[in-house]
Amino acid sequence: MTDVRGEIQFDHYDEAFAADPYPVLADLRERCPVAHSDAHGGFWVATRYADIQDLCSRPDAFSSRYSSVPNDIGFGDVVIPPLQLDPPEHTRFKKLLTPVFAVGQVGPFEPAARTYVADLLDGLVGKGGFDASHDFARLVPTAVLCQILGVPDDVELLSSLVESILANAATDPDGAAESGMILLAHVAGIVEQRKAEPGPDVLSHLLASEVDGEKLSDEEVIFVGILLVLAGIDTTWSTLSLAIHHLATHPDDQARLRAEPELLGTAMEELLRAFAPVTVARQVIDDLDFLGQPLKQGEMVLVSFPSANRDAVAFDRPDEVVLDRPNNRHLAFGSGIHRCLGIHFARMELRVGLEELLARVPAFELDPDVPVTWARGQVRRPTAVPLRFTA
Ligand code: HEM
Repeated sequence: MTDVRGEIQFDHYDEAFAADPYPVLADLRERCPVAHSDAHGGFWVATRYADIQDLCSRPDAFSSRYSSVPNDIGFGDVVIPPLQLDPPEHTRFKKLLTPVFAVGQVGPFEPAARTYVADLLDGLVGKGGFDASHDFARLVPTAVLCQILGVPDDVELLSSLVESILANAATDPDGAAESGMILLAHVAGIVEQRKAEPGPDVLSHLLASEVDGEKLSDEEVIFVGILLVLAGIDTTWSTLSLAIHHLATHPDDQARLRAEPELLGTAMEELLRAFAPVTVARQVIDDLDFLGQPLKQGEMVLVSFPSANRDAVAFDRPDEVVLDRPNNRHLAFGSGIHRCLGIHFARMELRVGLEELLARVPAFELDPDVPVTWARGQVRRPTAVPLRFTA
């Protein structure tokens, strides 16, 4: 991470950074408004809360065409809507998708999600311990997303494809592309099926919908489906794993949440703030000056929401987890026009996951005999959170 001149050669795929990014991010916030790294062909990094809000509010200057560094995460040069669209195209998709993900849409999914989570935990609790990332957090959002897509039997398939695409994005592009193509063919197959036999699922809804008098093409529906799989699984999986990792390593917070379950709403937001998993990227549209730094057309800027959420200018005691923190205006779900569409689903999944975990599983800590391991890249996640019960 630090080169021979003592300068930081920032790489979000670095293993040590994945395990603990916060000292590096604090150093960047302190030293340079926009840092530069030579890794992955070169890119800039924005780390401060106010700068990131400003950057995300300027889609005319910072394009979402490529939302990762490196650019290709397994689908070649295709554009994934709405994530990789700028206005006015982005506006059309957002109009179509916003009602599907509105807060009122979540309720009908909660009972089945709760039953799934309860059954899953009841199966795990007899074992004396389990891996909270792989055996639990991975399956919670995948099960909900499979309901949203109307493919309840696809839980294993979809979570393993997502894992493979994101894990391989920078280190094994061919492996990522192979999984990307399997996912593409699978979602295309579901869309074909829904065209023949529409159901109450989101893809049937998109096939039937019109925005400004225009229907979406089959290809557009397929890529929205792919985005939901990519954006809806790994993110909540990561947040839930990070939250459980915190509770396993901070017995006081775990005991407090068990004793004061009414705290869960604010606690969840605080865990999202402290452990925001998602970093995004933007591409510079035309040469411009950003915070005194000339940026050139086509250059990439990494946008670190995890760093913004630890900025002392925006948050009191930013490195502490304060379960009842008031006025928590964190950026874990992003900022500006691309702010997460799945917020209400994500909050339901996190709430149900944590409520059932604390109700059904005895007090837990990390198993010292099994290492915690970390996924590398733009979504930070412990790939293994080995728990053992202490009560
Ligand atoms: C805790 C869980 C989640 C986190 C932390 C999260 C975070 C984010 C972030 C940071 C963005 C902004 C991307 C950007 O600016 O380029 C985003 C966008 C998005 N998220 Fe989420 N997300 C979560 C869960 C979900 C879920 C469950 C779904 C769907 C079921 C979802 C669907 C989307 C979609 C469709 C977008 C694209 C919005 C647009 O481009 O206008 N997310 N999410």
